[in-house]
Amino acid sequence: MKLYEWLQIAIGNEVEAADVYDRIAQKSEPEIAGIARVFMEEELSHVERIAAIKNSIREFDGELSADMLALAAPNDKTKQSFDEELGFMSRKELFLFALKGERESIELYSELEKLFEKGSQEQTLFEKLAAEEQKHMFFVLQQLQGL
Ligand SMILES: [Fe+2]
Repeated sequence: MKLYEWLQIAIGNEVEAADVYDRIAQKSEPEIAGIARVFMEEELSHVERIAAIKNSIREFDGELSADMLALAAPNDKTKQSFDEELGFMSRKELFLFALKGERESIELYSELEKLFEKGSQEQTLFEKLAAEEQKHMFFVLQQLQGL
């Protein structure tokens, strides 16, 4: 898989994660809702930071295939059914969904980090992102224990 595609998947995961925390915030008491909103903002900042790397790669790579560009295009239909799915989930299901997403993100960023030279801008970014996702995962696990 090409780096560009990986980054596109990472961006999709982050957008989904932000939606999940938004839903959790809507269904939770104020204290938990506040934390969920902070996480939502963090996931959205991940989208921007990863997109910046993705765009810098695109500038250097003039040979993107049509397949890759199609992958990068937003898929409205999938987005809509995902939104509906989230709307029907209980708090526990939402937290479980968030947990799965965080695990996948940590795995993905740990892999992406290995592609770059230690100390480079990209390696540092993915290391930070993985650490933030780990923080999210611990919080989600704590909440699940209480449900
Ligand atoms: Fe996260």
